[in-house]
Amino acid sequence: MKTIIEPFRIKSVEPIYFTTKEERKKILEKADYNSFRIKARDILIDLLTDSGTSAMSSNQWAGIMQGDESYAGSNSFFKFEDSVRSITNMPYIIPTHQGRAAEKIIFTILGGKGKYFISNTLFDTTRANIEFSGAEGIDCLCEEGKYPSVPAPFKGNMDIEALRKVIKEKDASNIPMIIITVTNNSGGGQPVSMQNIKDVRKICDEYNIPLFIDACRFAENSYFIKLREEGYAQKSVPEIARELFSYADGCTMSAKKDAFANIGGFLAMKDLDLAIRCRNLLIITEGFTTYGGLAGRDLEAVAIGLQEVMDENYLQYRIRSIEYLTNKLIEAGVPVMQPAGGHAVYLDAKAFLPGIPVEQYPGQSLVCALYEEGGIRAVEIGSLMFGKYDDNGKLIPAQMELVRLAIPRRVYTQSHIDYVAEVILEVFKKRKELKGLTITEETPLLRHFTAKLKPLN
Ligand code: F0G
Repeated sequence: MKTIIEPFRIKSVEPIYFTTKEERKKILEKADYNSFRIKARDILIDLLTDSGTSAMSSNQWAGIMQGDESYAGSNSFFKFEDSVRSITNMPYIIPTHQGRAAEKIIFTILGGKGKYFISNTLFDTTRANIEFSGAEGIDCLCEEGKYPSVPAPFKGNMDIEALRKVIKEKDASNIPMIIITVTNNSGGGQPVSMQNIKDVRKICDEYNIPLFIDACRFAENSYFIKLREEGYAQKSVPEIARELFSYADGCTMSAKKDAFANIGGFLAMKDLDLAIRCRNLLIITEGFTTYGGLAGRDLEAVAIGLQEVMDENYLQYRIRSIEYLTNKLIEAGVPVMQPAGGHAVYLDAKAFLPGIPVEQYPGQSLVCALYEEGGIRAVEIGSLMFGKYDDNGKLIPAQMELVRLAIPRRVYTQSHIDYVAEVILEVFKKRKELKGLTITEETPLLRHFTAKLKPLN
């Protein structure tokens, strides 16, 4: 049998709500053309994020009932710790309420003015936490990762030569950490190869720089390694994941992705001194060391989810379902990031809307059109999210103008996805009618969350 089906059946459902195109036009205007400002009740298919939006399993819900809510030494913490350790083999495991809380702690301790953090690509909150500490984040993505339409097996890889160059330029003593994001969310959900991780490890050893993994989507990345990298086809996903973490000195993780949890995260590391400093900060910001901003029941859900996500029937379905939508779009000539990533389909807005210059945010224009046409919520990953201004106030655009359609785990069925494809094709047909946007209000940091925009005539 070749057909890959959902490896679950549905026990509990929630309604989604329909609106008309006329209503959506008004909603969009009221939301200042920013998809983060639209009420979830007004969305039909919500592909804003795969974070915290997973459907939990009956096992996870059963675990939730067993949550031990003791302030200190909760039984749920030890289950959580065992689960994280079985994958990462890290001795010191620190729960946090989500990924960025782990980032806030580690970059507060290691960051500061004059420091540089180098990555394949830093996610927006990671970069923001680095910059907020006064430090600078530098992305060294491999060349093939920068061209959406050119397929390659590991487009999330770090550019090793660029990495060496940056280390020499900035001096290793100013680089507290190198971070590999798996999969590379801001670069199309593309995986990093084990070989690349090993090569980065070698450089870290040479210069005595710690290596951390931003592990949000470690299982999806591990499965890509199994599918695409020589020598891994016969290895199990847990084996691959353990090898991946074995090259790292620590990791940050948002359990809202590859742990099927609605909230949660952690920091894990090998260095005791660093762990003590992190725990001290944890206590004043997140909570005591055995709950870190989470309820005992949340720790249970994460502990179970982390193991469930490595099931190969699930991962096969997960990767295939992203590929299914990507391939449908490719067949119709829609410009998308190729090959399909692990958790989302990325439209290449620059190629989709060549008539809209980057200063007019073609990605955001496309996001608005998808909502207006079919009630689909996507997110721009381009110059609205990552753009900066030079000293003259001129936009320094992002490397790529992408629109991400993130697929929540175990939530939507194939007919939902067929509908999404239909809407995208309809917008593609009308692409010449789309207009650019201008920003009317913005904040200096993470402006895309709250910015207000309006269409240009
Ligand atoms: N790192 C990566 C690679 C992420 O994708 C995210 C979150 C974080 C860190 C932060 O984790 O949300 O738990 O604080 N990404 C979400 C997204 C929000 O939509 O891609 P968090």
